[in-house]
Amino acid sequence: MSPITEKTTEATSESVTERTQPLAPMQRPDAPGARGAKGAKGAKAGPVMVIGHTGLLGQALMRVAGERGLRTLGISRRTVPGLNLARQADLAPFLDRLAPSLVINAAAITDLASCEADASAALELHVRLPGLLAEWSRQRGTPWVQVSTDHYWNDIENTLHAEEAPVSPPNTYARTKHAGEELALRNPNCLVLRTNLVGFRGRSGAPTFVEWALAALAAGEPFDAYTDVWASSIEAHQFAHALFDLVKMGTTGLLNLASREAVSKADFIAALAEAAGYDAEHMRRVPRPPRQRPRRANAMGLEVARAEALLGRALPGAAAVIEAIVASPAMPKPSVRIDLSRGTDVPLDLDTPTPMQIGRPDVQLA
Ligand SMILES: NC(=O)c1ccc[n+]([C@@H]2O[C@H](COP(=O)([O-])OP(=O)(O)OC[C@H]3O[C@@H](n4cnc5c(N)ncnc54)[C@H](OP(=O)(O)O)[C@@H]3O)[C@@H](O)[C@H]2O)c1
Repeated sequence: MSPITEKTTEATSESVTERTQPLAPMQRPDAPGARGAKGAKGAKAGPVMVIGHTGLLGQALMRVAGERGLRTLGISRRTVPGLNLARQADLAPFLDRLAPSLVINAAAITDLASCEADASAALELHVRLPGLLAEWSRQRGTPWVQVSTDHYWNDIENTLHAEEAPVSPPNTYARTKHAGEELALRNPNCLVLRTNLVGFRGRSGAPTFVEWALAALAAGEPFDAYTDVWASSIEAHQFAHALFDLVKMGTTGLLNLASREAVSKADFIAALAEAAGYDAEHMRRVPRPPRQRPRRANAMGLEVARAEALLGRALPGAAAVIEAIVASPAMPKPSVRIDLSRGTDVPLDLDTPTPMQIGRPDVQLA
């Protein structure tokens, strides 16, 4: 990979807007990127709203925002039962009242089979919701972030895809995520981030890739790891830090935000095992099965030169991503056998609105 100093000269895409002057809604001293921000007259800044705050990324966003002194507000079906933002006719009655200074949409149906089984649910969450957010932001001028995917390409080799690379979404998840990107990008206040995330979700019965890999390593029984599925996975907190830095600069448009290196699943697990003190002798390095259902992307590498130029720093390589995973408080000891059906469900100690706080006739609550 070429050195970062060379890459910085490549940041010329029209798809990314780096504003030397911050976006209008972020010119206030209470802009969401500001540390411990207060409004001009001492009023508190509007909160950072994280839609999907109970997920792998959502939890990291809440934590990192808190570390940066930002007030947060998490929204998900589990914390506000019965609420489905994607089914509202208009988000204004809900969002105006909560007055966020930034909205981050990290909600998704990340299980590919579930998207195939219920395509209308995928369409609603991945397309209709960003459409509603774009419409609301158009009226209010509030910046927002649509978190998107890298699940767009099949190839026989490991390729890094730039933002303008043509996409070939292989399944309902990818098609609906891409349609959501397109709606979001019609709104000039939106930053659309393509990524691939690793870390801990802690939800029983729904392990992340890392949780599954650690459980497989700890079990001491043979398991398959694919040699021809490549991704530029970044640890969720690393992603969250970079996201807030980009928002603070007023970045909008489409941007890849991921590790600077794409590696195969097999290489990733082997390096994780090595760094965390697991024995990987039972891991079988195999190509992916020929006819997977649903069809899946395999060459998901993302070229991140543009994000690095904007941030003025290199994004983490695979070793730094693995280091962050191993350093996570959620990292189990190699001697612990992991039961994925038990999980440690998300501790909901976050600054989350209750149905009482947000209940309005036009917001459907159970
Ligand atoms: N994980 C990855 O490797 C990966 C790769 C590429 C892109 N991404 C993207 O990164 C973002 C975050 O992914 P993640 O891995 O953090 O996902 P995740 O762990 O599966 O979390 C998804 C979140 O969405 C919420 N959610 C699901 N259905 C919802 C609905 N109908 N209404 C409101 N909230 C709903 C879930 O909360 P409740 O279930 O509590 O409602 C949860 O908080 C997504 O945009 C995803 O497409 C992830």
